[in-house]
Amino acid sequence: MQPTTPSVPLDFLGELRRTHSCGDLRAHDSGHRALLMGWVHRRRDLGGVIFIHLRDREGVTQCVFHEDALPEVHAKAEMLRPEYVVAVEGQVERRSPETVNPNLPTGEIELVVDKVWILNESRTPPFPMEDHVDVSEEARLKYRYVDLRRPRMQRNIILRSKISFAVREALYQQGFLEIETPFLTRSTPEGARDYLVPCRVQPGTFYALPQSPQIFKQLLMISGYEKYFQIVRCFRDEDLRADRQPEFTQIDLEMAFPQQDRIFETIEPLIQSVLKVIGRTIDTPFLRLTYDQAIRMYGIDKPDLRLPPFHVVNDLFGPEANLTAAGMPLVAVHIPKTGQLSRKERDELKAYGQERGLRVYDDAKRLERDFPEPMAAVRKRLDAAEDDLILLCGVGEPPQGQRPEEQVFKACGQLRLFAGQKYNDRHKLLDPTVFRFLWVVDFPMFEWDEEENRWMAAHHPFTSVLDEHIDKLTDDPAGCRAKSYDLVLNGVELGSGSIRIHRRDVQSKVFSALGFSDDEARRRFGFLLDALEYGAPPHGGIALGLDRLVMILVGETSIRDVIPFPKTAKGTDMMSDAPSPIPDRQMRELGIAFRK
Ligand code: AMO
Repeated sequence: MQPTTPSVPLDFLGELRRTHSCGDLRAHDSGHRALLMGWVHRRRDLGGVIFIHLRDREGVTQCVFHEDALPEVHAKAEMLRPEYVVAVEGQVERRSPETVNPNLPTGEIELVVDKVWILNESRTPPFPMEDHVDVSEEARLKYRYVDLRRPRMQRNIILRSKISFAVREALYQQGFLEIETPFLTRSTPEGARDYLVPCRVQPGTFYALPQSPQIFKQLLMISGYEKYFQIVRCFRDEDLRADRQPEFTQIDLEMAFPQQDRIFETIEPLIQSVLKVIGRTIDTPFLRLTYDQAIRMYGIDKPDLRLPPFHVVNDLFGPEANLTAAGMPLVAVHIPKTGQLSRKERDELKAYGQERGLRVYDDAKRLERDFPEPMAAVRKRLDAAEDDLILLCGVGEPPQGQRPEEQVFKACGQLRLFAGQKYNDRHKLLDPTVFRFLWVVDFPMFEWDEEENRWMAAHHPFTSVLDEHIDKLTDDPAGCRAKSYDLVLNGVELGSGSIRIHRRDVQSKVFSALGFSDDEARRRFGFLLDALEYGAPPHGGIALGLDRLVMILVGETSIRDVIPFPKTAKGTDMMSDAPSPIPDRQMRELGIAFRK
């Protein structure tokens, strides 16, 4: 890079010190002197008078330069351009009533500048510092340091900091200790791919970055640090989506001697404290549904409660109606206030359902003609109004595979969300300022993995089974329910946790149900298994996704907008250009060769 000379004479910071932030000054400060520092947000040159909006983290203040009063100061102001960094000193003056700016908290005053220091210049920014300007995400991520100056990003990142503080405060108050756990460690059991770090001093060996502090927090319980928490970075190599990043942050906690209720009693006030940050309140306890209830009512384990549940209505029709296969549910999906949908719209919904194996009866008029009494009973059960959408869904044949009924419910759940989101714009069904939390509990212990042809841990392999299901572990894995729970907000899985297995014998049983040989279990998690033999207390915990929590609370739809330096869907940091190849010398040092 060529050394460049500044295009304007620059001043030193020297001993200059701010008296106020750019968001501080009010009418009662008029008559006083003030020294501000910040960035030139906007500059207007009206000939003999120059106005600049000076911006820092706290706000914007209008500064005025009069040519006739101080020509040399005015001359310096003529050199200012957007994003120049300046210090200004002068007298605070009340604005005349007709020039008051009601959109700025400092809008009643302006700073009449008599001294100005240009601390640095700026190239023309790649995009303006305004929220309403449409900027491509590529440009935003490449010039992230500029993007982060925009008011919306400033608000998001500042709120994120305040939320982290509220979390810490709430947990310290409840007697939790903040304890760190290693990043350079062994593979953890969350089921994604690991990010690996080669170890130079032991060639051929690798650390794995933690997908969560799961094992370490369990070890801390075994070591007697009864209430642990950490706001911690986790690393997972998985396909990215709007609510997933390869590195993300968890509010992670673990307690000794807890029942599930103790965990909920910890988290609910924590959420209340967090909501206070954005000026909101929420009632507790949160609604609780078992996994089975959630599936039967919403067809999903993370229901969005802003839309009503669907209802099973087989009993209202009787088998002779022949709307669904024998033994399979007939489901009435209900979306309020959609108004009459067009033929095309109904066809689209129908096709969406059909792609998921459903038979969708979309013609309410016809249904009402063919089944007048049952349909009246359906309307009553749904509490549906005249202009609500009702879709009846059944199947031609039971789906193949494990839990066929559940598969039908899940397809209905997808249709419900699709229809709800589709007509959301028109009717604001999914209002982002409404926060509907709930707990989903008693998840299945195992999920069948078609590819591997075996049962997998639905949460992770250290999760306890319900006491009354211990004997089912070997005979009926499909029927086993776990002491595990998710916190869900507006259809997003915000957090997940469980009561853990603290007994070595039970842990062995679970590993064998999972088809892990003793050797394999030892190889992967041996140190935890050993630790369970040294007085492990009953323990359990949870981890909440901080990025997701902040995303929803600030009303964003991508977690990238609440993370200062996120990665693209391909895992690239557009600004630093990571990941990047490494020099041969470094490869040799690590004893690694790259194979095409
Ligand atoms: P789990 O894997 O469910 O549980 O993760 C907990 C929460 O972390 C968030 N999360 C993510 N956020 C952004 N990007 C990702 N890639 C990502 N992956 C997960 C979600 C999720 O609910 N050790 C267990 C917790 C426990 O049992 O205590 C765990 O990590 O909000």
